[in-house]
Amino acid sequence: MYDNPRLILDSSNPPEADNILWRSPSNIALIKYWGKYGNQLPRNPSLSFTLSAACTDMELSYIFRDDTHSAGVNLDFFFHEAENPAFQAKMAEFLNTLLPVFPFLKQLDLTIRTGNSFPHSAGIASSASAISALALCLCSLEDRLFGTLQAAEDFERKASWLARLGSGSACRSIFSHAALWGETGLIQGSSNEYAVAAGDLLHETFKDFHDDILIVSTDEKAVSSRAGHALMEDNPYAAPRYAQAKARLDALLNALESGDLPAFGKIVEDEALTLHALMMCSNPSYVLLQPGSLAIMEKVRRYRTDTGNPVYFTLDAGPNVHLLYPGSIVHEVRDFIEQQLKPHCEDGYVIQDWVGEGPEEM
Ligand code: DP6
Repeated sequence: MYDNPRLILDSSNPPEADNILWRSPSNIALIKYWGKYGNQLPRNPSLSFTLSAACTDMELSYIFRDDTHSAGVNLDFFFHEAENPAFQAKMAEFLNTLLPVFPFLKQLDLTIRTGNSFPHSAGIASSASAISALALCLCSLEDRLFGTLQAAEDFERKASWLARLGSGSACRSIFSHAALWGETGLIQGSSNEYAVAAGDLLHETFKDFHDDILIVSTDEKAVSSRAGHALMEDNPYAAPRYAQAKARLDALLNALESGDLPAFGKIVEDEALTLHALMMCSNPSYVLLQPGSLAIMEKVRRYRTDTGNPVYFTLDAGPNVHLLYPGSIVHEVRDFIEQQLKPHCEDGYVIQDWVGEGPEEM
């Protein structure tokens, strides 16, 4: 879609060495992307809140090198100030697949320095924030060198498209407050190729929403998201699941627009449990939830019944529980977490996050 052989630097007028810095957040899906086809295309539309505190900072430095014969990109890579050959290799491999889109990358010596706001071992996925940060750096680089992405909409669309190729959920981190990825008749301009902004649809209540991430375990997942998506291909419930996701998206959009918290909470919790049910009935079956995850979900439901406070849970592909609630009850909920939920968290670890403004260039 974005292949462009004209994006080649003129060696008689080389750019000066410089760098680009982006901070990009993670996101939490309310309607889950689970199942894909082709080159990272989703089987159903998904919708997420953009987070704020859980984020990646990435600096991309570049120096012109007059060598168009090199086989691939030339990349030095540092993660939290240290060399990291495993991440370096993954990044270089991804950048090499992007050469038809950014042929000028071969004409530069590139250095990436990156780090997350949370420990890598926190057990929360960093791919959405890291890959979206990379996509934003690359689009800024293209625009700086060629002036080709001046319109914000063009810039965001290309960044989201690129991020999707690296990790599906990353394409939703580009936008403030909320994003929708996947073609649906419900949202004009929606596409399987990239996400679109959905923040404007939100009722005010959801613009001031919290997501406290309860870290039940920091262990490496037994089954990666990539493998989990692949297992959906033979899952007997796949077809009804994709239809269900579409119907739930319709209902969720109504709740998000009207500020209907109970409707929102029911859909979001049902989505979380459906995601894990799909894992349990994959072949081979697997379970990522842990006793602590179940205890937390149970306590959240009891707390809601007892207090009437609108606190809901969701999950991503792991044992950690995300607590979603409006800013108006933050103090009460933090007390509840402290007293009742922290004992289920590894070393009492909780990441306090909230719906945010999206990525920023620093
Ligand atoms: C459960 O985006 O991590 O978090 O495209 O293979 O990188 P890849 O998968 P990934 O899958 C995320 C799955 C999820 C739901 C979601 O974020 O929508």
